[in-house]
Amino acid sequence: MRRLYSTLILLALVLSCGTLAAQNNNITPVPVRFLGGTCSDSGCMPAMPFDFSQLTSLYIKGAKGADRERLVASVEAAGLDLKLIKRPKTVACLNIWINPESMPFDEGYAVVTSEHNVDITARSAAGAFYALQTVRQMVESGEWLTGAIADYPRFEYRGVLIDISRHFRTLDFLKRQIDMMARLKLNRLHLHLTDAAGWRLQIDSYPRLTSYAAWRTPHDWKSWWQGGRKHVEEGSEGASGGYLTKDEARELVAYAADRYITIIPEIEMPGHSDEVLAAYPELKCTNNPEHQGDLCIGKEATFEMMQAILDEVIEIFPSEYIHIGGDEAGKNNWELCEDCQRRMREEGLASVDELQSYMIHRIERYLNARGRQIIGWDEILQGGLAPNATVMSWRGEEGGILAAEAGHKVVMSPHGYCYIDAPQDAPYSQPESIGGYLPLCKVYSYDPAPATMPESVARYILGVQANLWAEFIVEDDHYEHMLWPRAIAIAEIGWSQPEAKSYDEFRERAIRIVDSMIAEGYTPFDLKNEIGNRPESLTDVEHLALGKPVTYLHPSRYYAPQYEAAGDATLTDGKRGTWTYADKRWQGFLGRGGVDVIVDLEQLTTIRSITADFMQICGPGVFMPCLVEIAVSTDGENYTKIADIEHEVVLDELPSFKAFGWQGEVEARYIRYKAHRSKHSGFLFVDEIIVR
Ligand code: ACM
Ligand code: ZN
Repeated sequence: MRRLYSTLILLALVLSCGTLAAQNNNITPVPVRFLGGTCSDSGCMPAMPFDFSQLTSLYIKGAKGADRERLVASVEAAGLDLKLIKRPKTVACLNIWINPESMPFDEGYAVVTSEHNVDITARSAAGAFYALQTVRQMVESGEWLTGAIADYPRFEYRGVLIDISRHFRTLDFLKRQIDMMARLKLNRLHLHLTDAAGWRLQIDSYPRLTSYAAWRTPHDWKSWWQGGRKHVEEGSEGASGGYLTKDEARELVAYAADRYITIIPEIEMPGHSDEVLAAYPELKCTNNPEHQGDLCIGKEATFEMMQAILDEVIEIFPSEYIHIGGDEAGKNNWELCEDCQRRMREEGLASVDELQSYMIHRIERYLNARGRQIIGWDEILQGGLAPNATVMSWRGEEGGILAAEAGHKVVMSPHGYCYIDAPQDAPYSQPESIGGYLPLCKVYSYDPAPATMPESVARYILGVQANLWAEFIVEDDHYEHMLWPRAIAIAEIGWSQPEAKSYDEFRERAIRIVDSMIAEGYTPFDLKNEIGNRPESLTDVEHLALGKPVTYLHPSRYYAPQYEAAGDATLTDGKRGTWTYADKRWQGFLGRGGVDVIVDLEQLTTIRSITADFMQICGPGVFMPCLVEIAVSTDGENYTKIADIEHEVVLDELPSFKAFGWQGEVEARYIRYKAHRSKHSGFLFVDEIIVR
């Protein structure tokens, strides 16, 4: 038969430097290349509308068994009702050719829409599956043109973490997210199965993990966390929670595999293990019978348990990677526990960091011997990284870079870009959440391996992952609201080449995807109604105190080092804060004295207004002042108070912003602005003292 595009032409297409034609720009993640028009032995024709309804048959070469069934199912899911035939056709047929020689990229593919046919070429069944996701988007776009797409992923790891510990979610819910992930060519689902709030996987050798540690009252995490953090017996009155049985977990693994998604189970150790110790208190450190979150590394029983659990985990999850957590261990009990101390002496460990590292090394050896690799949060670097470990860098990128420099593989998931439990729009318009403002554009701006990264580091960056922790996310619809569309941005970061990316175009495509998700019953954040960043932050503000010196009155009541913003210049630098106090524009005060500063206008000035904004976000302990005093002086010695503004600090779930100021007319050179902290300890954040 005469193929309109030979493998060689496709290869040339993949490697050539054509760009995506504007007409066919509605594929997400944006593909590497698109060439409009069709070419055959008799010459080339310009692009013209392509009609998918003319297709009647499907031919697949090179895929057998489950792969073949998956491709047939994907064709159906793309909305094409085609008859499977035994020989390829050049008219009205979707031909899929899987050939390991066809292109240099494992998950790569090419899709050619010629006048009467569609030809897919891929190196693997996964590549053909991705080609069909592209075809599905072509069909859904309703206005495809003839041409050729050549495409392959930038990163091999394109992941999302779903937290089912803080609030358990059903198999159906997880499958719905897997469906959407697959459509966007995401290929790793990191399941956060264990944490203080609940153990979520059947383990036969330690049954209390699910008969006790998987259940609690009350249902919502926040009340549980604030109310004593106790677990209850399964079936007891009001018990809320749940877990995946082994059969369910296997069903989920198979469901994901049918969509070329690997599920990576996370079994937290040694920290974040409060629920394990609640169920098996004999594994607590000996010094402290009270509530504990870190496993005792001194006791052999801890290793017996973790290894038995991992035996069962690897029997369910075929993933090469097993995530062993490793983050945020408190480590303080280890200093006092006689078992931990004995272990440290016997093993010659100089610090509790090395004690943690001892455990991670040992678990790595155990899993390596069973053909698996460990991946852990970047704290596994502390005390020495296990030799084959892969690092998931969350506290920033530094851990990931350090690990890569030492030749370890890395998945980037820095919280400033990838922690999608933070609000994605004006915080007052969003449900209660953790962290600062993380809009879609900021997620999208992330590059796990920018051009400035040395190649010696970049080559170890496996990819990128969004993490959606669920402390404040009780309901499924809320979870979807947080996940989508930001996970779409992660999909494009993970798949598309940086030069093909454009936020404005992406946003248009994301709006279309969100609209179609809503039509299908998903509950994503409705991007087209986005409010956007705090208007005050968009332009610098001009005022009489701009650039004037500010004196902080009490050194011990100074701004906190982690929230110093632009240091002493912050309050008069003309830069207003965004929706987040972590933007280096808001200055944070933790001292008991609150804010107490003098602004020197450097000359006698007629002042008609003095004002400063504060924010309140109760979750992380950011509160409004309870009293603001403003005084002025002509000589810097004698001050006259002009305002005493009292404010009742009311604890509210939604963040708020409020100006505290004075208006009138006064002649002065110096302004003393003093904001008192309320009875709620925590931060005061202020961005600018505006004088007019
Ligand atoms: C983490 O957020 N503690 C990994
Ligand atoms: Zn101990």
